Amino acid sequence: MRDPETFRSRAWFHGDQYEHLSRRAWLRSEGLTGSAFDGRPIVGICNSWSELTNCNAHLRQVAEAVKRGVWAAGGIPLEFPTISLGEMFMKPTTMLFRNLMSMDVEESITANPIDGVVLLCGCDKTTPAQLMGAASANIPSIMVTGGPMLSGRWQEQELGSGTDGRKLFEALRAGRIGEEQWAEVEGCIARSAGHCTVMGTASTMASMAESLGMMLSGGAAIPAVDSRRYQFAEKSGRRIVEMVREDLTPSRILTREAFENAIRTDMAIGGSTNAVVHLLAIAGRAGIRLTLNDFDRLSRETPYIVDVKPSGRFLMEDFYYAGGLPSAMRELQPLLHGDALTVSGQTLAEDLSGVEVPNRKLVRPLDQPLNREGGTAILYGNLAPDGAVIKQTAASPHLLRHRGKALVFDRYETLRARIDDDLDVDENTVLVLQNAGPQGGPGFPEWGHLPIPAKLLRAGINDIVRVSDARMSGTSFGTDVLHVSPESAVGGPLAAVRTGDEIELDVPARRIDLRVGPREIERRLAERRAQAPHYRRGYGRLFLDQVTQAHLGCDFRFLAPEGAAADGSGSVN
Ligand code: FES
Repeated sequence: MRDPETFRSRAWFHGDQYEHLSRRAWLRSEGLTGSAFDGRPIVGICNSWSELTNCNAHLRQVAEAVKRGVWAAGGIPLEFPTISLGEMFMKPTTMLFRNLMSMDVEESITANPIDGVVLLCGCDKTTPAQLMGAASANIPSIMVTGGPMLSGRWQEQELGSGTDGRKLFEALRAGRIGEEQWAEVEGCIARSAGHCTVMGTASTMASMAESLGMMLSGGAAIPAVDSRRYQFAEKSGRRIVEMVREDLTPSRILTREAFENAIRTDMAIGGSTNAVVHLLAIAGRAGIRLTLNDFDRLSRETPYIVDVKPSGRFLMEDFYYAGGLPSAMRELQPLLHGDALTVSGQTLAEDLSGVEVPNRKLVRPLDQPLNREGGTAILYGNLAPDGAVIKQTAASPHLLRHRGKALVFDRYETLRARIDDDLDVDENTVLVLQNAGPQGGPGFPEWGHLPIPAKLLRAGINDIVRVSDARMSGTSFGTDVLHVSPESAVGGPLAAVRTGDEIELDVPARRIDLRVGPREIERRLAERRAQAPHYRRGYGRLFLDQVTQAHLGCDFRFLAPEGAAADGSGSVN
């Protein structure tokens, strides 16, 4: 147990200089007594609450529950805001700002008299941004996510946010539902505070926090408005005080074994493809050398077993009642590193002991999986020399091996404007979007679930192969090849594709290839005219100057830990 003399907050408050007195006086101005300085840990509550981030709009109440726990365990809670990233509103994309938020989190922690921190997040990017910042700050840290909304409900149907909204939008475009029904959906698809209700990016990243060991067991799937989320928050508040006393820092938890556990869990739950880019970035901050090959190796060995949308049938609320993530990890336990340490202060195996798997329909036995391999597959080929990803469990099985002629758009705006025209397309067409990566988007937007041409929807064709250097919302589904790296805007081979070229996708062989000779590809790339940079000043300029490509996690080069390169080489672990 640590001596309180070693707490970092002492440097701010303990001493006989004027600044010590004034810091104590200013903290007492918030109504605290002198007992605040008698050796109690000061716990920051890093809150990404914002009314502009609808999914996190209840985090002030969650923070109150955390404070109860901190007070009860003998700590002093001090809540502070950071920027927040709301998926629904921010333009051009929240991903442009993930690294900025991570810097805000890191600097807010390190600049202040904080001995430990509770990270409150929910909407997609807020979770990885906080984990990245906390990994860099490396003081005792515990995460409490906001939880999923209540399941959407329309007429007799349960609606998963994103997934079913998109399906119904396609039904609207195809004329299968009318404007009146569409308006009804708007009123009932998002029924409460909380994040998206399927295994989208928010639910996936909450599951990643738990499987990395950065959140207490059982927190990821509790519905946002369930009283048990507030009980969980209070418990986490108690626990962070103990973590400070134990000096249990992220660097002791975020080990290579922890990341392998998280990747396997991601594969077993059919997690969002965005988890790939975020886990690479978090690992980079922790000094762990993780590559796309780690994802592919673990994906091939890990069955997909959790039947939640968009790959499966159920919603996050159902998953919680089926035991939530602990039941999935319990089933997965033979494949996990049981000795990985978690924020509980115990090993993962100890956290999972006694956990049961009550619903075999939703969490399948390992030997009767929904898919023999994990949700995400990594592809390579002459179209993606540094890699690409596909969510194979949310793709159409008949398209996993496919060869077809490309229809190419070099801008998303053009694609959106023309997608309902009488295009020369059929079910074999491969729709291609260029200039949608980290530099090209800019900011790596979620455009990769390219809309199906209306002509095909009307003919009853709901999926075709789509290829881009963009990301895709975790709530999406379809045969979408994403994160093609290097991206077209920096001269990756995707920039060489022209309408009419043949593209071959072979997911079992992990290939994505352009059936054009290497000389011709080179000639086309040499002729390519680079687009003007999207930003010449401000944060956008910093982003373009510093961001790494998708296969490296899109963090800023200068945020790699000292001694490690942005590509993970020279990592400290
Ligand atoms: Fe926030 Fe989906 S929009 S989690």
